[in-house]
Amino acid sequence: MCGIFGYVGNSKDATIMAVDGLKSLEYRGYDSWGVAWKEGGALLYKKEIGKISGVDGASLSTGCSLAIGHTRWATHGGVTVENAHPHFNESKTIAVVQNGIFENYQELRDELKAKGHVFVSETDTEVAPHLIEEYLKQTNDFAQAVRMACKRFTGRYGIVVINTESNVMVAARTGSPLIVGVQKASGYFVASDTPAFLHHTRTVQYLDDGEMLMTDGTTILFCDIFTGEEKPKREIEITWTAEQAEKGDYAHYMLKEIMDQKESVARSVNQSDEEIHAIAEAIKNAKGTFLVACGTAHKACAASEYFFSVVAGHHVNVAPASEFTVYHHFLKPESLLFVVSQSGETADVLEAMTVAKSKGAKVLAIVNVKGSSIDRAADYTLLIHAGPERAVASTKAFTGQLAVLLLVAHALAGKLHQGKQLLLETSSMINDMLNPRYVERIEALAKKIKDEEDMYIIGKSWNYPLALESAIKIQEVSYIHAEGFAGGELKHGPIALIDKGTPCVVLAGNDETLPDILSNAIQLKARGAFVIGVAPNENEIFDEWVRVPDAGPAQAIVNVIPIQVLAYFLAVQRGKDPDMPRNLAKSVTVK
Ligand code: F6R
Repeated sequence: MCGIFGYVGNSKDATIMAVDGLKSLEYRGYDSWGVAWKEGGALLYKKEIGKISGVDGASLSTGCSLAIGHTRWATHGGVTVENAHPHFNESKTIAVVQNGIFENYQELRDELKAKGHVFVSETDTEVAPHLIEEYLKQTNDFAQAVRMACKRFTGRYGIVVINTESNVMVAARTGSPLIVGVQKASGYFVASDTPAFLHHTRTVQYLDDGEMLMTDGTTILFCDIFTGEEKPKREIEITWTAEQAEKGDYAHYMLKEIMDQKESVARSVNQSDEEIHAIAEAIKNAKGTFLVACGTAHKACAASEYFFSVVAGHHVNVAPASEFTVYHHFLKPESLLFVVSQSGETADVLEAMTVAKSKGAKVLAIVNVKGSSIDRAADYTLLIHAGPERAVASTKAFTGQLAVLLLVAHALAGKLHQGKQLLLETSSMINDMLNPRYVERIEALAKKIKDEEDMYIIGKSWNYPLALESAIKIQEVSYIHAEGFAGGELKHGPIALIDKGTPCVVLAGNDETLPDILSNAIQLKARGAFVIGVAPNENEIFDEWVRVPDAGPAQAIVNVIPIQVLAYFLAVQRGKDPDMPRNLAKSVTVK
């Protein structure tokens, strides 16, 4: 949530790099944006409401080597220019961008106001430059003043700070991600995510929680915020390329990422047998396995409850990460927490990990972003290898998560090889499905239902969590009111919502649950619903049939593909931007 960026070095294009970097971080927030840069000994800045997509960094400056920037997802204070970052002290000698929340900002603001400081925004962030100014009165050392201020902040945050008196950029984090891009001999980048500097370097260093860094573009120093102790860092080469993080010829990232699934599911199978077996063994021996995640990733966990049950006859517990903290009574040192996250930065998931660790439980993670906070905090990580996911709506990460969870379930059943085979076959099915004719058919279906305001999706077994995920996908990009239900639950209440012509999607597979879900579809049809069947076989109950291959235990993976395409076209045909839906951000680093 919120993207932050900083550059210092010998390039004169700092504002161009800042604007380009922010464009690639826009998925983290797009209410407003701002850049501050140092030129002629002063801090200049530009802030605007709305998206940064059309802005040219060269229009800000063509001759500066130190700049910071921010793209905002509002937490404290409305979407106004005053609330947009960077924030300054009154004399505009210090500029700060933040991703996160200073929980004690009100107390700090009152303290600073009592000393005569005047605030111009409603944000928590504005206390930072004022507090740093106060500490600069005590120590003439800029980095030291930032460190003293950071010791006062509570909450989860990442900040980047510059001032007029030095050419030093200081960054600190506790909770929110900050990654350093190392461009030997020419400069250093700091950003919330790597695509912000991938065009310039793929060499990174990770700032850990409770740490800060200072760099003048030639050297960089890392230290602990509280003790001041120096922290040596390794340089790591990342494998993602700048091209992978671009949308190429596609109209939107969401469509590109849906299409990426032609290959990404096969990549997720790329796991070492030894490691998967070790994880399966850990699940077998654990006294309680808890699968925890948020949003779409949580739906992948919920589907895996059926994978573990059907494929391996093993019980696991699934909970949304935001609810998990109340489960702590059940946790023992022998328990296992399995967290799933695309970004690897989701605050509620990180909190669940902290709770589990405090009980001595081991934490396994399935993530997409290597080097993310969850990856580094977990005892063991499996990467889904989906490649960068930029659209706010998760698509290829979801199928990657399902694939890895299905693989683990197979390993638990002693059938890892069959699991890998199944997923490779599923991958080639997806490749066949995503052909232009198939996509056009779904586009035509979207046209038929695009003006509806309500939609319902039902499923049974693993298609039930998939119905919940389908609802999320349709809601978040098209703003149609969509809800998912277990098919058998309809008659216990939700069926009252069905009216003549209400579009209802029925997710089915060729398994023992088929008769039941078809019977639920008949109940819908009897109330006038327009029934859209997503199933391997046609049925007279369906007003529209969306053909999907028969993928056995991987049915949830293939069934979600047409739903993702449908959600995409519903958004586009309703004139919405599927990549940046209102009120949302990709990486949810606040609770
Ligand atoms: C919906 C979506 C979100 C995320 C959720 C968790 O399409 O993307 O529901 O799944 O915010 O994010 P990660 O997976 O990054 O932990």
